Amino acid sequence: MTDIPVITIDGPSGSGKGTISQRLASSLGWHYLDSGAIYRALAYAVDQAGFTVDDNKQQIEELARELKLSFQPSADGGAEVLLDNVNITSSIRTEECGAMASVLAADGDIRAALLQRQRDFRQLPGLVADGRDMGTVVFPDATHKIFLTASAQVRAERRYQQLKESGINDSIPRLFTVISERDARDASRSNSPLTPAADAIVLDTSEMSLEQVIGQVRQQVGYQGL
Ligand code: C5P
Repeated sequence: MTDIPVITIDGPSGSGKGTISQRLASSLGWHYLDSGAIYRALAYAVDQAGFTVDDNKQQIEELARELKLSFQPSADGGAEVLLDNVNITSSIRTEECGAMASVLAADGDIRAALLQRQRDFRQLPGLVADGRDMGTVVFPDATHKIFLTASAQVRAERRYQQLKESGINDSIPRLFTVISERDARDASRSNSPLTPAADAIVLDTSEMSLEQVIGQVRQQVGYQGL
């Protein structure tokens, strides 16, 4: 373990953790880990290779260890995801890719193959890490742990908006169904399930604006300038 500070922000999809984490990281001048993008990039690579979890488990674990993944700041303050130097950002944002990522993510050996890659993001001056198991498994000694949640309906509406902004057309009822399925799988798996760490602060953001959530997070972590 190290002294490098980490703030973990976990939660289901559409809880607002991506936006909040990016904003927090950029205002603190800290590094940002979007761990979901790693699972999504693996799902993309597995799909490209034509592998399935049932038939190609070992090859997938190897792929997970050797994935040539890099992140670059994007114009909107987020990050572009590059696999073998090819920009795969928009391809991995679809709900289909999220669902595939969630199937792979249920496997303990695949998770283990991605663990060190995530811990390597812990660099000075600090890290904001967003995902499902940041506070429970990847950074159990984190300085501050936040767990964001919201009702499934609100999360489906937020995902709809997010996808729309990135040029992807979907429907709220369909997103409600696929997101609920994905969250149920993430929460019920035996390996690193989606659950708040015992020492996490849980915030239900259903009725809160982005600014209100940011205000609450700022209060909890005690850093100014967010
Ligand atoms: O956060 P995002 O929706 O991009 O994550 C995609 C999927 O990757 C999640 O549904 C989950 O199954 C998996 N994931 C995970 N652990 C993390 C981050 C993501 O299992 N720390």
